[in-house]
Amino acid sequence: MTPSRRPLIAGNWKMNGMREDGQALATELAGRLRQEAAPAFDVLLCPPFTLIASVGAAIAGSGLHLGGQACHAKGKGAHTGDVSAAMLADLGCAFVLAGHSERRTDHGETNAEVKAKAGAALAAGLTAVVCIGETEAERKAGKTLHVNGTQLAESLPAGATAANTVIAYEPVWAIGTGLTPTLEEAQEVHALIRAELFGRLGPDEAENLRILYGGSMKPGNASELLALPDVDGGLIGGASLDADDFWAIAQSCP
Ligand code: 13P
Repeated sequence: MTPSRRPLIAGNWKMNGMREDGQALATELAGRLRQEAAPAFDVLLCPPFTLIASVGAAIAGSGLHLGGQACHAKGKGAHTGDVSAAMLADLGCAFVLAGHSERRTDHGETNAEVKAKAGAALAAGLTAVVCIGETEAERKAGKTLHVNGTQLAESLPAGATAANTVIAYEPVWAIGTGLTPTLEEAQEVHALIRAELFGRLGPDEAENLRILYGGSMKPGNASELLALPDVDGGLIGGASLDADDFWAIAQSCP
């Protein structure tokens, strides 16, 4: 973390939760944020589509931010089962994830599609959280920096700024496995991302754009990851479903 960037702690609930669970978790987290005298971090909740409205109602006025987990690249039309960025904005979302590795794997989303979806998010007034990360095979082949550089270059939408875009580095092999990169490895990738952003967006935007780490972030490892110079928050899966764990991570922000 660098003081100029305010940490963002984001919970990606993935395909978890019925209305009652979601409402209880959101209400609990809203209460915790209200108890913070001067929180030094932003908090984002990304529930499944079915829970966005009820979670939005539960966190209204709390300062917690609401986001979707995915959106379609088009504004509307014949796309059964999809939702548009404008629909998410209409429900009170301010953020949407784009290109999470589970979308890339389960739905075959390519860098070009991720870029289009992130662009649609910006056009709808949302902040896009563009997700990138190498697989275990790519890591073993020594391609980590190359893969992340390419994914970033090809997934970042036109018009991206520090105000409307967040990057999330999530090594695929670290997601849900309990494994994490070493601190040196994590910082190396985050520094590469920052350098690429410098080339694309210029020094001011690159310096201010938040780069999150995701992949088995837990209360036990959050402090050291969040203290790295180019790690500006976390994108948390499993631990975001437990209010105590998620809040302990948020409170680990330097
Ligand atoms: P875990 O925190 O469960 O490893 O998931 C990370 C993730 O994929 C967040 O988007």
